[in-house]
Amino acid sequence: MNPDELAALIATRRSNILIDPASEVKSEHIAQMLTAAQSAPNHKRTWPLRAAVVRGESRRALGEVIADSMAARGDDDAKVEKTRTKYMRSPLIVVVASALGDSDSETEENKYAVAAGIQNLLLTAESMSYAALWSTPAKGANDAITTVCGFEPTDHVMGIIYIGAPMKPAPDVERPAVRVTYLQ
Ligand SMILES: Cc1cc2nc3c(=O)[nH]c(=O)nc-3n(C[C@H](O)[C@H](O)[C@H](O)COP(=O)(O)O)c2cc1C
Repeated sequence: MNPDELAALIATRRSNILIDPASEVKSEHIAQMLTAAQSAPNHKRTWPLRAAVVRGESRRALGEVIADSMAARGDDDAKVEKTRTKYMRSPLIVVVASALGDSDSETEENKYAVAAGIQNLLLTAESMSYAALWSTPAKGANDAITTVCGFEPTDHVMGIIYIGAPMKPAPDVERPAVRVTYLQ
């Protein structure tokens, strides 16, 4: 791949929830996405990225536990009910978490590393022509998610990623120019 091809891949990646729930994501593709995620830089080689591959009825179980924790917090009923089935919207959900570090700064840097890993995963999904969307876990649902995903209770859930074949492209977005200062 040359730099122009890489730039095109990066520019083409969009958050897209218009995913065909009946589509298939091949196991070897999932493995490649996870390998890409693990290839992100991480300070002091702490290897903080944790992932859970959620398919089939487990997607519903994930939605149910998150919805229950939202209900326990007194979240709006409509939002809670929507959450129960929302992960059925794509054939594959990847939950990504960041491990606790030995210090606050290591925990923070671990999160940077995992965010970089998620972007690697998204770009790999894009290169395979999948649609994907990085979604934020519901507030207060960390414990419920780490439990259902078999993570450590101290892991911090960074994203719940929807992946599958696109039904439609994401609507166009204009990206502002980068705010940059050149010093010489
Ligand atoms: C940390 C993070 C959390 C996000 N959470 C959500 C979310 O909960 N729901 C959603 O629709 N998009 C979410 N997104 C996707 C953003 O909305 C999206 O990246 C942004 O609109 C820019 O669009 P693009 O990804 O197509 O460039 C999230 C993105 C990041 C980086």
